[in-house]
Amino acid sequence: MTLEPIFQDKTYLRERQYRDSRNLDARAALHRDYSTSSLDWQAWVFAQLELEPNTAVLECGCGPGWLWRENLARIPANCQITLTDLSPGMVAEAEAALNEAESALADSGTTFQVREANTEALPFADDSFDMVVANHMLYHVPHLDTALAEIRRVLKPHGRFLAATNGDNHMRELKELAFRVAGDAVPQKWPQLTFRLENGRDLLAPYFNDVSLRLFADGLAVTAVEPLMAYLHSMSLTQEVGADQLTEEIAALEQHIAATIAAEGAYHIQKETGLFIARNGRG
Ligand SMILES: C[S@@+](CC[C@H](N)C(=O)[O-])C[C@H]1O[C@@H](n2cnc3c(N)ncnc32)[C@H](O)[C@@H]1O
Repeated sequence: MTLEPIFQDKTYLRERQYRDSRNLDARAALHRDYSTSSLDWQAWVFAQLELEPNTAVLECGCGPGWLWRENLARIPANCQITLTDLSPGMVAEAEAALNEAESALADSGTTFQVREANTEALPFADDSFDMVVANHMLYHVPHLDTALAEIRRVLKPHGRFLAATNGDNHMRELKELAFRVAGDAVPQKWPQLTFRLENGRDLLAPYFNDVSLRLFADGLAVTAVEPLMAYLHSMSLTQEVGADQLTEEIAALEQHIAATIAAEGAYHIQKETGLFIARNGRG
């Protein structure tokens, strides 16, 4: 079994991995509770947007809309925020939460619109947005060139594009744990993300100007077994291998994690994550 095809398979992404926010929730909980940085990821990303009043924003691959839900009090007045995702389940969750938020923000004039859309074929007119955000999603897009051309098309001339992704060593220790669960059923190498910190600048350069990278300095020091196991169970690798069949391997893994925490005080996991910021060169 190789993982790459499912990582970019729209049916798999829509109907399994991102059918709803449960897998993302397990992963976010680990980051929320055990990150070594005092900064929260979505708050950090939001700060990098440097959002001003009256801005039209598009988010591609919005998931349950956390970027906006977790920064509601910081959104300036009269922004028109459009969220899109491939998964109807994610769209429904984001829409329900943001409809409520919109009523709470009614005085500010800021609006949210959520709709199902594939980033490779954006249902918006040319020059529609001042800013486009793609937060940890471009590596799921099989035709990256098409998606980047679409993003450039819907961005106004000189509009900004922000794309978050991970580096090759992001959570390397956790991926090694996932391989222990998956055993011989999968190749013992984690597939490289197609859009990652190491190659993002080169991939963006043909479409955008002034590409820069901001890194988010962070790591994990996990002091409990259960949230780490929940993260592992949320991953495509372990799910697709049928972790329910692998009870012995899972019990051994739990013991290994517990022993490491007892000996070292925590299970340490490195992170390599950041955000590319670029400007539309058109115009
Ligand atoms: C890792 S999640 C990130 C969600 C959100 N941006 C966040 O940071 O919390 C990736 C999201 O991208 C969506 N996605 C994957 N391929 C997509 C595509 N071609 N077009 C739009 N959304 C896509 C998935 O459904 C999923 O919700």
